Amino acid sequence: MDAKVAKKNLNWAELGFQYLRTDFRFSACHVDGEWQAGSLVEDENISVHEGAPALHYAQQCFEGMKAQTAEDGRILLFRPDLNSERMNQAASRLLMPEVPREMFIAAVEETVRANYAWIPPYGSGASLYIRPMLIGVGENLGLKPARSFEFRVFVSPVGPYYKEAGLAVISLAVSGMDRAAPNGTGSYKVGANYAGGLLATRKAQELGASEALYLDAAEGRFIDEAGSANIVIALKDGSLVTPASNAILPSITRRSLMTIASDKLGMSTADRPVELRTEFEDFQEMGACGTAAVLSPVGRIWFDDAWHNVNDDGQTVGPVMQQLYDTLIGIQKGELDDSFGWLHEVDI
Ligand code: PLP
Ligand code: COI
Repeated sequence: MDAKVAKKNLNWAELGFQYLRTDFRFSACHVDGEWQAGSLVEDENISVHEGAPALHYAQQCFEGMKAQTAEDGRILLFRPDLNSERMNQAASRLLMPEVPREMFIAAVEETVRANYAWIPPYGSGASLYIRPMLIGVGENLGLKPARSFEFRVFVSPVGPYYKEAGLAVISLAVSGMDRAAPNGTGSYKVGANYAGGLLATRKAQELGASEALYLDAAEGRFIDEAGSANIVIALKDGSLVTPASNAILPSITRRSLMTIASDKLGMSTADRPVELRTEFEDFQEMGACGTAAVLSPVGRIWFDDAWHNVNDDGQTVGPVMQQLYDTLIGIQKGELDDSFGWLHEVDI
């Protein structure tokens, strides 16, 4: 079958970060210790038992990736191996079966291919968001792992995550609520980390911020990450630092930006604890990065009951974030040389 059917007639440039039902999703079940052959399905609803551990005890994990259309029409994934690796780390942490790498990549490719009509065209500013997920299903009342699991991949065309489109400046607020304990599940992409953050996000938004910024839960001194993104900071000495913490998600975007900074932009880089209050005056530029967030410059932060501008007016996109952003999306869209071998083309 030729997957290249006509594109949907959407106003791609106006898309926000919202679920839009596409035609197909991939589903496979793990029963009696084995993965069964999966397939594409049309129903976007999952029917699970009311006692499912995913519903009660959050035995579930997920991933977030994007497919982009290059100028020559190629469909490009960005470092999908790392999403597979991270999903398996979460699966092991929550006593769920790993999804073999080949199965993960094939499922993602199959879902993207089947929904070709929904992949935003080159130059539209939108992309196809891919959400792989793994959930514990079946009846289970006591606190013990599920015996059956579903692995599913769905996709949705999306625009910018923050309502400020493109490389627009956002703001973050420290709410005083913690996201994850030092030896907890903060470094795994598990739903349990996010439910507790909804209130912190709400409070941040009530203050006028785009989202919550979390400090380390042990002492409340060091920057951890934002609700849906890691943090990178360009210091006044010309270096790029990113907060080291065992409670944050190992962002694929952040790891890529640090490599771009050192290997392409010639910056000195460091992955180390960053103390907010004592180091803030050394900050030149700051960014929140992730698959959904891409790289969003942070203009100001709310902490200790006041707004603090990262740069002079709190609204300027600095040159370091601009260069990092241009290089990252240039690679992701196939416009710049993929010298790190990060792109994975989906055969259509
Ligand atoms: N931190 C959190 C809490 C996230 O949810 C995400 C999104 O996936 C990120 C960071 C960014 O990670 P990545 O760049 O791998 O998308
Ligand atoms: C992503 O960036 O892929 C995420 O999963 C963040 C999510 C909160 C939208």
